[in-house]
Amino acid sequence: MKRYVVTGGAGFIGSCLVRELLALPGGNQVAVVDNLLTGHRKNLDEVKDRVTFHEVDICDLAGVRKALQGADTVFHLAAIPSVPRSINDPVPSHEVNINGTFNVLSAAKENNVRRVVYAASSSAYGDTLVLPKVEDMQPKPKSPYAAQKLMGEYYCSVFTSCFGLETVALRFFNVYGPRQDPNSPYSGVLSLFMKHLIARTQPTIHGDGEQTRDFTYVEDVAGLLIKASEAQGAAIGNTYNAGNGNRYSLNMVWDTLQKIEGVSITPNYGDSRAGDVRDSQASTEAAVRDLGHAPRFTLEEGLRRTLAWYKSDLQA
Ligand SMILES: NC(=O)c1ccc[n+]([C@@H]2O[C@H](COP(=O)([O-])OP(=O)(O)OC[C@H]3O[C@@H](n4cnc5c(N)ncnc54)[C@H](O)[C@@H]3O)[C@@H](O)[C@H]2O)c1
Repeated sequence: MKRYVVTGGAGFIGSCLVRELLALPGGNQVAVVDNLLTGHRKNLDEVKDRVTFHEVDICDLAGVRKALQGADTVFHLAAIPSVPRSINDPVPSHEVNINGTFNVLSAAKENNVRRVVYAASSSAYGDTLVLPKVEDMQPKPKSPYAAQKLMGEYYCSVFTSCFGLETVALRFFNVYGPRQDPNSPYSGVLSLFMKHLIARTQPTIHGDGEQTRDFTYVEDVAGLLIKASEAQGAAIGNTYNAGNGNRYSLNMVWDTLQKIEGVSITPNYGDSRAGDVRDSQASTEAAVRDLGHAPRFTLEEGLRRTLAWYKSDLQA
């Protein structure tokens, strides 16, 4: 029996991970640490009786220490996860993404946690021209958010080398799927596409829509997080890409969604956003080799599942 803690477990990716952990054999315990800044209790509705919920801000070290008591594995996903938000309001992003991450690592070390798996970000690569992005490229963060998430990776590696705390960092690319919140000014692009597709309204694409992303279905990311929590050898203290290895332009994604729905809606095109990178695609070689990464969902399959969920959620 294992005791898992998921910080950010009421969020989009965290709540998917919680469900996957509960589905593992062994009668494991799962606890969530979340202050509900961008996450929602309803994301955990159908599993709430099986999860211990700590409504704690990761900037509160004493609170984090308490919540991590007895934990075997910590998945650290809590963050203010937005490039534009980190530009418009950099102080809270810095405090949560850097100081909060430091608190989680410190509390994990003090509680003799076996391993911390950290949600890093592909934004660390910035506009490095080479594709696909390989982990040993020199990072070139273009926004406070990207720099903060990169600092989290460095802290993970330092906690491994200096304090013997096992860590693995996964650079998520563009994750999409059920429960991604479309109702904030900082919502991820695919959640906004879903909202507009269902309402039959025009989405606004920032830039010309030809920017490309490695869209990764959330269950593939949750699966890799779990693999990273068990991987041995070279994985410990290291950082891996958690993408699919493909890239699609926003125009291609919107076209695919229109085809799935059998509609034709021309998007609006707005100004490009500061801090956004042009192209992004993961090399998955290292994650396949060291972690057993095996993404299962094609973009079309993932989009179909995601759309089905947004429709059912609207009717609920
Ligand atoms: N969604 C993506 O495409 C993507 C890409 C790269 C990295 N990531 C990383 O993945 C993680 C999860 O992101 P997500 O997309 O699920 O976003 P999300 O906003 O749905 O989840 C973040 C969670 O963290 C919680 N949180 C925020 N500040 C907190 C604090 N001070 N204390 C405790 N909890 C706090 C929020 O309430 C929320 O539940 C983040 O670390 C993010 O940086 C996401």
